[in-house]
Amino acid sequence: MEANTCLTLVFFLLLNLALGVLSTDNYGRHDFPVDFVFGSGTSAYQVEGAANEDGRTPSIWDTFAHAGFARGGNGDVACDTYHKYKEDVQLMVETGLEAYRFSISWSRLIPNGKGPVNPKGLQYYNNLINELIRNGIQPHVTLHNYDLPQALEDEYEGWLSREVIKDFTNYADVCFREFGDRVKYWTTVNEPNIFAVGSYDQGITPPQRCSPPFCLIESTKGNSTFEPYLVVHHILLAHSSAVRLYRRKYREEQNGFVGISLYTFGIMEPLLHGDYPDSMKANAGARIPVFTNRESEQVKGSYDFIGIIHYSKFNVTDNSGALKTELRNFFADSAAKLLGLEEILGENEVMVEKLIKIIILIDLFNH
Ligand SMILES: *[C@@H]1O[C@H](CO)[C@@H](O)[C@H](O)[C@H]1NC(C)=O
Ligand SMILES: *[C@@H]1O[C@H](CO)[C@@H](O)[C@H](O)[C@H]1NC(C)=O
Repeated sequence: MEANTCLTLVFFLLLNLALGVLSTDNYGRHDFPVDFVFGSGTSAYQVEGAANEDGRTPSIWDTFAHAGFARGGNGDVACDTYHKYKEDVQLMVETGLEAYRFSISWSRLIPNGKGPVNPKGLQYYNNLINELIRNGIQPHVTLHNYDLPQALEDEYEGWLSREVIKDFTNYADVCFREFGDRVKYWTTVNEPNIFAVGSYDQGITPPQRCSPPFCLIESTKGNSTFEPYLVVHHILLAHSSAVRLYRRKYREEQNGFVGISLYTFGIMEPLLHGDYPDSMKANAGARIPVFTNRESEQVKGSYDFIGIIHYSKFNVTDNSGALKTELRNFFADSAAKLLGLEEILGENEVMVEKLIKIIILIDLFNH
């Protein structure tokens, strides 16, 4: 008895010491509402592996990685979650996760981006979802995490074409229909603003398009001043089309929530008000696409939640001088200068506080 009490005491002391060392403010579970959900997330290409198995076709990420742009790496095997999902779910249980956010590989579920569903792909996602639910972990599913099927890139230049709206909506339809009885939280597109800038302005992610002088990796195709805006426009239309479909066809029966996740800056305004901000239209002029009235109505309010992705913080200062340059990209149009990047390490407390404020703010927007 005595020894046990002693051990318990020592354990508590150690625990307190550890907490004291790890953080100056002791954030804990008790600081959050009971229904606040803690989880973790991945994206398909980063974890699944089995890139060429069971009918999956390449996405633009496979092409990019195999061309040597991903520091020599690729996702052919990755974490091999495709084969090891049961072990991975057990690791989540041990970690104490309440939710797991993962993305579906569009070209695994629907090879070539459109047409028939791949039964093996369907089976895999059903297995994963069932395994999560069996272990008491909520599945949160992202439909598009940078990995457009290469076939659609080849056929009509992917997100640069309006055709993608229809194909994305059909893909979303398959996901809602097949998984929506168990999946209640859907994110249509992950970080469309960063995808547009990285992939069409700086050219550092697939499909690696950009034009001088904005390229960070040289490319023979693209237009940095124009394409990022067009891509964001098509993503907003595809996103809102999927949301509309869910609300019309599935919501009543499935009672789920569909949102989008954004990197902290960017494209809230169209989602809130159905149009781009006046400052953006003034600065980028004719390079900003125009919503028709119908499209504007569709985009406005097309979310049940907004996911906020946060990695780091910037100091921002006025840079209106940039507007005098003829050739401008998104950063120049924003007339703001980012003053360096502070890693979130060592900034955790500030970050957690900020994130909580943002979450509260968004919650207010929604009521
Ligand atoms: C990019 O697109 C804009 C708008 O269509 C056009 O004015 C400009 O000439 C294009 N630039 C390049 C490098 O193709
Ligand atoms: C950002 O601003 C803060 C507060 O003025 C300052 O302490 C910090 O050094 C600045 N960081 C950068 C990267 O300029």
